[in-house]
Amino acid sequence: MEVIIRPDAAAASDLVARIIARELRANPHLVLGLATGRTMERVYARLLELHREEGLDFSLCTTFNLDEYVGLAPSDRHSYRHYMNHHLLLQVNVDLRNTHLPDGMASDLDAECLGYERLIKKFNGIDLQLLGLGRAGHIGFNEPLSALHSRTRVKALSPTTLEQNAPLFRDASAMPRRAITMGVGTILESRRCLLLATGKEKAAIVARAVEGPITSMISATALQLHPRCTVIVDESAAGGLEGADYYRWLFDNEPEWEPYR
Ligand code: GLP
Repeated sequence: MEVIIRPDAAAASDLVARIIARELRANPHLVLGLATGRTMERVYARLLELHREEGLDFSLCTTFNLDEYVGLAPSDRHSYRHYMNHHLLLQVNVDLRNTHLPDGMASDLDAECLGYERLIKKFNGIDLQLLGLGRAGHIGFNEPLSALHSRTRVKALSPTTLEQNAPLFRDASAMPRRAITMGVGTILESRRCLLLATGKEKAAIVARAVEGPITSMISATALQLHPRCTVIVDESAAGGLEGADYYRWLFDNEPEWEPYR
């Protein structure tokens, strides 16, 4: 795992967007894993700019989202399909048929989860998986006690997640209590992981996710097992990191980051 600290949320999101853009230019057939949440909105806004201003081409790529609420139709403005279409997919030149989210309306949810895993395999796995970080340390909707080898399945949302995401619903009582999420094991199989966290309210959980012991109580700690995971944070979210000076040095000096400086 490596940690990159940027001065603020705009710079951190810009770096994430530029990494995605570089991977997409190197491989137009990229299989891109996407995430939702407020943090990602800046990344998608930046990708839109790169598409409009620099012709970043999404026409051949395939996308897989991490998760979707159970019981919300794609047309529901609270669904993650709606979020993705609104913030990115309908605004760039991706072929919508190549964009995938679990179907939270499926009559057989277990079959839907198995089918999602099969589809990811059919595309030979995910090249680059984008990840946000929940307040309790989840990736996707892998709530506390998610097995580190878990696969795509239905998860009951924890009280912390319900509280964190309720303000996004017009009527908080209408918020689904369950979601389909890629498992921790599914996420760990992506060839590259990029986690973005910004803001001081994420500082404590970032420190536990990155520098704390691996535990199923905080599914993001499993990323420490991943051979190629980059955690990108702004200075506010880096507030609890013991190794911050070392991480800052890495970005300024390691040749890998030269194109982004
Ligand atoms: C939701 C998503 C997570 C995401 C989290 C972060 O819970 N299921 O995948 O990491 O939001 O949310 P925010 O960026 O709004 O803090």
